[in-house]
Amino acid sequence: MSASTLKIEDLTVEIEGSEIIKHFNLEIKGGEIHAIMGPNGTGKSTLASAIMGHPKYEITHGSVILDGEDVLEMEVDERAKAGLFLAMQYPSEISGVTNADFMRSAINSKREEGDEISLMKFIRKMDEKMDKLEMNQAFSQRYLNEGFSGGEKKRNEILQLLMLEPKIAILDEIDSGLDIDALRVVSNGINEMKSESFGCLIITHYQRLLNYITPDRVHVMMQGRIVKSGGAELAERLEADGYDWIKEELGIEDERVGNQQKA
Ligand SMILES: Nc1ncnc2c1ncn2[C@@H]1O[C@H](COP(=O)(O)OP(=O)(O)OP(=O)(O)O)[C@@H](O)[C@H]1O
Ligand SMILES: [Mg+2]
Repeated sequence: MSASTLKIEDLTVEIEGSEIIKHFNLEIKGGEIHAIMGPNGTGKSTLASAIMGHPKYEITHGSVILDGEDVLEMEVDERAKAGLFLAMQYPSEISGVTNADFMRSAINSKREEGDEISLMKFIRKMDEKMDKLEMNQAFSQRYLNEGFSGGEKKRNEILQLLMLEPKIAILDEIDSGLDIDALRVVSNGINEMKSESFGCLIITHYQRLLNYITPDRVHVMMQGRIVKSGGAELAERLEADGYDWIKEELGIEDERVGNQQKA
Protein backbone atom coordinates (compact mmCIF):
# COMPACT_ATOMS: atom_id res chain seq x y z
CA MET A 1 0.00 0.00 0.00
CA SER A 2 1.38 3.41 -0.85
CA ALA A 3 1.65 6.12 1.79
CA SER A 4 -1.44 8.20 2.40
CA THR A 5 -1.56 11.94 2.94
CA LEU A 6 -4.10 13.92 4.90
CA LYS A 7 -3.87 17.56 3.99
CA ILE A 8 -5.70 20.12 6.11
CA GLU A 9 -5.54 23.49 4.45
CA ASP A 10 -6.69 26.85 5.75
CA LEU A 11 -9.48 25.18 7.74
CA THR A 12 -11.92 27.43 9.56
CA VAL A 13 -14.67 25.94 11.72
CA GLU A 14 -17.59 27.64 13.44
CA ILE A 15 -19.90 26.49 16.20
CA GLU A 16 -23.08 28.47 16.51
CA GLY A 17 -21.53 31.58 15.03
CA SER A 18 -18.24 31.41 16.94
CA GLU A 19 -15.06 30.66 15.06
CA ILE A 20 -13.25 27.89 16.92
CA ILE A 21 -10.70 26.74 14.35
CA LYS A 22 -9.02 29.52 12.42
CA HIS A 23 -7.17 28.99 9.16
CA PHE A 24 -5.61 25.77 10.38
CA ASN A 25 -2.93 24.03 8.30
CA LEU A 26 -1.38 20.59 8.76
CA GLU A 27 -0.19 17.75 6.56
CA ILE A 28 0.11 14.21 7.88
CA LYS A 29 1.74 11.55 5.75
CA GLY A 30 1.80 7.78 6.13
CA GLY A 31 4.70 6.77 8.37
CA GLU A 32 4.49 10.00 10.37
CA ILE A 33 3.33 10.57 13.91
CA HIS A 34 2.29 14.10 14.79
CA ALA A 35 1.35 15.32 18.24
CA ILE A 36 -0.82 18.32 19.02
CA MET A 37 -0.52 19.79 22.47
CA GLY A 38 -2.04 22.95 23.86
CA PRO A 39 -3.89 24.44 26.80
CA ASN A 40 -7.55 23.60 27.48
CA GLY A 41 -10.14 25.15 25.21
CA THR A 42 -7.85 25.93 22.29
CA GLY A 43 -9.78 23.90 19.70
CA LYS A 44 -7.99 20.55 19.64
CA SER A 45 -11.07 18.33 20.00
CA THR A 46 -13.06 20.60 17.72
CA LEU A 47 -10.46 20.08 15.01
CA ALA A 48 -10.74 16.29 15.38
CA SER A 49 -14.55 16.29 15.38
CA ALA A 50 -14.78 18.65 12.42
CA ILE A 51 -12.50 16.44 10.33
CA MET A 52 -14.66 13.43 11.15
CA GLY A 53 -17.83 15.28 10.18
CA HIS A 54 -19.60 16.13 13.42
CA PRO A 55 -22.80 17.85 12.30
CA LYS A 56 -22.55 20.65 14.87
CA TYR A 57 -19.42 22.05 13.33
CA GLU A 58 -19.73 24.25 10.29
CA ILE A 59 -16.75 24.40 7.98
CA THR A 60 -16.72 27.93 6.65
CA HIS A 61 -13.37 27.88 4.91
CA GLY A 62 -10.60 25.59 3.74
CA SER A 63 -10.24 21.95 2.80
CA VAL A 64 -9.40 18.51 4.13
CA ILE A 65 -8.02 16.20 1.46
CA LEU A 66 -7.17 12.52 1.88
CA ASP A 67 -5.14 11.13 -1.02
CA GLY A 68 -6.59 13.66 -3.40
CA GLU A 69 -10.19 13.15 -2.26
CA ASP A 70 -12.24 15.84 -0.60
CA VAL A 71 -13.08 14.54 2.87
CA LEU A 72 -15.52 17.35 3.61
CA GLU A 73 -17.72 16.22 0.72
CA MET A 74 -18.03 12.74 2.23
CA GLU A 75 -20.68 11.43 4.61
CA VAL A 76 -19.35 10.39 8.01
CA ASP A 77 -19.36 6.67 7.15
CA GLU A 78 -17.60 7.40 3.87
CA ARG A 79 -14.81 9.09 5.81
CA ALA A 80 -14.26 5.91 7.81
CA LYS A 81 -14.45 3.91 4.60
CA ALA A 82 -11.83 6.15 3.03
CA GLY A 83 -9.47 5.23 5.87
CA LEU A 84 -9.93 7.90 8.54
CA PHE A 85 -10.25 6.93 12.18
CA LEU A 86 -11.09 9.07 15.18
CA ALA A 87 -10.71 8.05 18.80
CA MET A 88 -12.76 10.57 20.70
CA GLN A 89 -11.87 12.26 23.97
CA TYR A 90 -15.17 10.99 25.38
CA PRO A 91 -16.19 7.79 23.54
CA SER A 92 -19.95 7.26 23.41
CA GLU A 93 -21.79 4.30 24.85
CA ILE A 94 -24.11 2.26 22.66
CA SER A 95 -26.50 0.09 24.59
CA GLY A 96 -27.74 -3.08 22.90
CA VAL A 97 -24.78 -3.36 20.51
CA THR A 98 -21.96 -5.62 21.60
CA ASN A 99 -18.39 -4.58 21.13
CA ALA A 100 -17.79 -7.52 18.77
CA ASP A 101 -20.86 -6.76 16.64
CA PHE A 102 -19.90 -3.12 16.43
CA MET A 103 -16.36 -3.88 15.28
CA ARG A 104 -17.46 -6.52 12.82
CA SER A 105 -19.92 -4.22 11.12
CA ALA A 106 -17.35 -1.41 11.14
CA ILE A 107 -14.86 -3.68 9.37
CA ASN A 108 -17.46 -4.93 6.91
CA SER A 109 -18.69 -1.46 6.07
CA LYS A 110 -15.18 -0.75 4.78
CA ARG A 111 -15.25 -3.81 2.54
CA GLU A 112 -17.17 -4.48 -0.64
CA GLU A 113 -20.47 -6.36 -0.50
CA GLY A 114 -19.83 -10.08 -0.82
CA ASP A 115 -16.30 -9.65 0.55
CA GLU A 116 -17.23 -9.51 4.24
CA ILE A 117 -14.72 -10.81 6.78
CA SER A 118 -15.54 -14.40 7.78
CA LEU A 119 -16.70 -14.95 11.33
CA MET A 120 -13.71 -17.22 12.03
CA LYS A 121 -11.21 -14.71 10.74
CA PHE A 122 -12.88 -11.93 12.64
CA ILE A 123 -12.88 -13.83 15.93
CA ARG A 124 -9.26 -14.84 15.49
CA LYS A 125 -8.22 -11.28 14.77
CA MET A 126 -10.22 -9.85 17.66
CA ASP A 127 -8.79 -12.46 20.07
CA GLU A 128 -5.28 -11.69 18.94
CA LYS A 129 -5.67 -7.93 19.30
CA MET A 130 -7.41 -8.20 22.67
CA ASP A 131 -4.56 -10.37 23.92
CA LYS A 132 -2.09 -7.80 22.74
CA LEU A 133 -3.95 -5.07 24.62
CA GLU A 134 -4.24 -7.32 27.68
CA MET A 135 -8.03 -7.06 27.56
CA ASN A 136 -10.34 -9.57 29.11
CA GLN A 137 -12.26 -11.51 26.42
CA ALA A 138 -15.50 -10.65 28.21
CA PHE A 139 -15.23 -7.17 26.70
CA SER A 140 -16.10 -8.50 23.25
CA GLN A 141 -19.61 -9.39 24.39
CA ARG A 142 -20.28 -6.32 26.49
CA TYR A 143 -22.32 -3.46 25.07
CA LEU A 144 -20.09 -0.87 23.45
CA ASN A 145 -18.49 1.23 26.17
CA GLU A 146 -21.46 0.74 28.48
CA GLY A 147 -20.18 0.78 32.03
CA PHE A 148 -16.58 0.67 30.78
CA SER A 149 -14.21 2.49 33.10
CA GLY A 150 -12.41 5.50 31.68
CA GLY A 151 -9.27 3.47 31.01
CA GLU A 152 -11.22 0.55 29.55
CA LYS A 153 -12.87 2.90 27.04
CA LYS A 154 -9.48 4.17 25.91
CA ARG A 155 -8.11 0.66 25.57
CA ASN A 156 -11.19 -0.25 23.54
CA GLU A 157 -10.59 2.69 21.19
CA ILE A 158 -7.14 1.26 20.49
CA LEU A 159 -8.70 -2.16 19.94
CA GLN A 160 -10.86 -0.53 17.24
CA LEU A 161 -7.76 1.07 15.76
CA LEU A 162 -5.97 -2.29 15.51
CA MET A 163 -9.06 -3.98 14.11
CA LEU A 164 -9.92 -1.35 11.51
CA GLU A 165 -6.36 -0.56 10.35
CA PRO A 166 -7.10 2.95 9.09
CA LYS A 167 -4.76 4.97 6.90
CA ILE A 168 -4.88 8.02 9.14
CA ALA A 169 -5.91 8.09 12.79
CA ILE A 170 -6.67 11.03 15.04
CA LEU A 171 -6.43 10.07 18.69
CA ASP A 172 -7.86 12.63 21.08
CA GLU A 173 -6.46 12.29 24.62
CA ILE A 174 -6.07 8.56 24.26
CA ASP A 175 -3.85 8.67 27.35
CA SER A 176 -6.19 10.49 29.70
CA GLY A 177 -7.23 8.38 32.66
CA LEU A 178 -4.85 5.52 31.87
CA ASP A 179 -2.88 3.90 34.64
CA ILE A 180 0.84 3.39 34.11
CA ASP A 181 0.52 -0.17 32.80
CA ALA A 182 -2.38 0.72 30.52
CA LEU A 183 -0.37 3.62 29.11
CA ARG A 184 2.36 1.19 28.10
CA VAL A 185 -0.12 -1.27 26.60
CA VAL A 186 -1.96 1.42 24.63
CA SER A 187 1.32 2.90 23.40
CA ASN A 188 2.49 -0.52 22.25
CA GLY A 189 -0.76 -0.86 20.33
CA ILE A 190 -0.18 2.42 18.53
CA ASN A 191 3.47 1.62 17.87
CA GLU A 192 2.43 -1.70 16.38
CA MET A 193 0.46 0.21 13.73
CA LYS A 194 3.52 2.21 12.76
CA SER A 195 4.24 1.73 9.08
CA GLU A 196 4.48 3.66 5.85
CA SER A 197 0.76 3.12 5.30
CA PHE A 198 -0.31 4.61 8.63
CA GLY A 199 -0.21 8.23 9.71
CA CYS A 200 -1.26 9.38 13.14
CA LEU A 201 -2.23 12.59 14.91
CA ILE A 202 -2.08 12.33 18.68
CA ILE A 203 -3.73 15.01 20.78
CA THR A 204 -2.32 14.94 24.28
CA HIS A 205 -1.61 17.07 27.31
CA TYR A 206 1.29 15.01 28.54
CA GLN A 207 4.83 14.36 27.48
CA ARG A 208 4.71 10.93 29.20
CA LEU A 209 2.75 9.38 26.30
CA LEU A 210 5.42 10.70 23.97
CA ASN A 211 8.05 8.85 26.01
CA TYR A 212 6.55 5.67 24.58
CA ILE A 213 5.54 6.96 21.15
CA THR A 214 8.14 9.18 19.58
CA PRO A 215 6.46 11.87 17.50
CA ASP A 216 8.07 13.13 14.31
CA ARG A 217 6.49 16.55 14.83
CA VAL A 218 4.98 18.30 17.83
CA HIS A 219 2.58 21.22 17.33
CA VAL A 220 1.21 23.65 19.86
CA MET A 221 -2.33 24.87 19.35
CA MET A 222 -3.65 28.16 20.68
CA GLN A 223 -6.59 30.27 19.55
CA GLY A 224 -7.71 27.59 17.12
CA ARG A 225 -4.51 27.26 15.14
CA ILE A 226 -0.96 25.95 15.31
CA VAL A 227 1.27 28.63 16.78
CA LYS A 228 4.46 26.63 17.12
CA SER A 229 5.91 23.38 15.73
CA GLY A 230 9.02 21.41 16.50
CA GLY A 231 10.40 17.94 17.08
CA ALA A 232 10.00 15.69 20.11
CA GLU A 233 12.13 18.11 22.15
CA LEU A 234 9.32 20.70 22.01
CA ALA A 235 7.10 18.40 24.10
CA GLU A 236 9.90 18.07 26.65
CA ARG A 237 10.25 21.83 26.90
CA LEU A 238 6.48 22.17 27.44
CA GLU A 239 6.56 19.57 30.19
CA ALA A 240 9.33 21.49 31.92
CA ASP A 241 8.25 25.09 31.31
CA GLY A 242 4.53 25.08 30.48
CA TYR A 243 3.03 27.37 27.84
CA ASP A 244 3.75 30.87 29.14
CA TRP A 245 7.02 31.24 27.25
CA ILE A 246 5.24 30.59 23.96
CA LYS A 247 2.53 33.11 24.80
CA GLU A 248 5.19 35.67 25.67
CA GLU A 249 7.21 34.93 22.57
CA LEU A 250 4.15 35.38 20.35
CA GLY A 251 2.43 38.11 22.32
CA ILE A 252 -0.67 36.01 23.00
CA GLU A 253 -2.70 37.12 26.00
CA ASP A 254 -5.63 34.70 25.97
CA GLU A 255 -4.91 31.38 24.27
CA ARG A 256 -8.50 30.13 24.34
CA VAL A 257 -11.06 30.34 21.56
CA GLY A 258 -14.80 30.45 21.33
CA ASN A 259 -15.80 33.54 23.23
CA GLN A 260 -15.25 35.99 20.45
CA GLN A 261 -18.05 36.50 17.91
CA LYS A 262 -17.22 36.76 14.26
CA ALA A 263 -16.39 40.32 13.29
N1 LIG B 1 -20.74 22.21 20.72
C1 LIG B 1 -20.18 23.31 21.21
N2 LIG B 1 -20.94 24.40 21.53
C2 LIG B 1 -20.38 25.53 22.02
N3 LIG B 1 -19.05 25.67 22.20
C3 LIG B 1 -18.27 24.65 21.90
C4 LIG B 1 -18.77 23.41 21.39
N4 LIG B 1 -17.73 22.58 21.17
C5 LIG B 1 -16.64 23.26 21.55
N5 LIG B 1 -16.95 24.50 21.98
C6 LIG B 1 -16.01 25.50 22.50
O1 LIG B 1 -14.88 25.55 21.67
C7 LIG B 1 -13.70 25.77 22.42
C8 LIG B 1 -12.68 24.70 22.07
O2 LIG B 1 -13.14 23.45 22.56
P1 LIG B 1 -12.32 22.11 22.34
O3 LIG B 1 -13.11 21.00 22.94
O4 LIG B 1 -11.96 22.01 20.92
O5 LIG B 1 -11.01 22.40 23.21
P2 LIG B 1 -9.75 21.48 23.48
O6 LIG B 1 -8.57 22.20 22.95
O7 LIG B 1 -10.02 20.11 23.00
O8 LIG B 1 -9.67 21.52 25.08
P3 LIG B 1 -9.29 20.37 26.14
O9 LIG B 1 -7.79 20.36 26.19
O10 LIG B 1 -9.86 20.88 27.42
O11 LIG B 1 -9.89 19.07 25.70
C9 LIG B 1 -14.15 25.75 23.88
O12 LIG B 1 -14.26 27.05 24.34
C10 LIG B 1 -15.48 25.06 23.84
O13 LIG B 1 -16.32 25.48 24.90
MG1 LIG C 1 -10.29 18.30 23.92
